[in-house]
Amino acid sequence: MADVSNAPGTQPLAPGKAGLGVTQRQDPWWAEWVGVAAGLGLLFGYAGVAAFLGKGQWGPYLSPFYSPHFMQLHTGKPWIPVALVPLIVIIGFRATCYYYRKSYYRAFFADPPACAVGEARENYEGETKFPFIIQNAHRYFMILASFFLIFLWWDAIGALFPHLLSKHMGAPDTESLPFVNLAFGSILMLTNVVLLTGYTFGCHSLRHLVGGKNDCMSCAPSLQAGWKAASGFNAKHMQWAWASLISVCLTDLYIRLSGMGLLTFEPWKVFK
Ligand code: FES
Repeated sequence: MADVSNAPGTQPLAPGKAGLGVTQRQDPWWAEWVGVAAGLGLLFGYAGVAAFLGKGQWGPYLSPFYSPHFMQLHTGKPWIPVALVPLIVIIGFRATCYYYRKSYYRAFFADPPACAVGEARENYEGETKFPFIIQNAHRYFMILASFFLIFLWWDAIGALFPHLLSKHMGAPDTESLPFVNLAFGSILMLTNVVLLTGYTFGCHSLRHLVGGKNDCMSCAPSLQAGWKAASGFNAKHMQWAWASLISVCLTDLYIRLSGMGLLTFEPWKVFK
């Protein structure tokens, strides 16, 4: 570990002292580590459980874990959770994301626990061997997740305009709804898909695919514009990552609790 004795907020490191957690930092560097571990554990744990519970649809509202709707028609076997495919894409996309990698390497593997804090091992092999070489699949998960994003926009528009799209989703009792269903559930679904779009558009792989690999930016103005847009989202990728992960879980929770009759903020309660 590098000696940072001259950095502000540090204290001298005892000679010969190094290893897991050894640091000259005086600030509570472990607080972020604990917070990230608790947050990721809670939200990914919820996602894993929700995928096996079923009941991901209520009226014109479809949980993001159960989208696209047609998947329910073809995987409705008791031994295949209908949300398994979306769950694999959600977890695969996020687990291989550059931001999440940094987060969970620190939070769950303490590798390293934080900047300028000692780690257990002394050599670094990068992500060149199994299992971490799988992280290279991120670009493919990004393409899969982008397809799911199209369906999530379809679901959100269907919730907002139930007479237009919800019948195609097999939503019952939508005749009694107004043409524009401006209600808590539809606004929640719309917010969720906007946050997911911001997260996906800021993906490092997408940014590279759109324009990052080009040697001459001014030779392709449209790619340059796309790259600049992706870079704008990318600058706040961590914030998009957390906001969208929380919104996905909250959207599912709201639809689930409403369907169970335990909670709803809708002005109408007409759905079975
Ligand atoms: Fe985070 Fe691609 S790097 S989604």
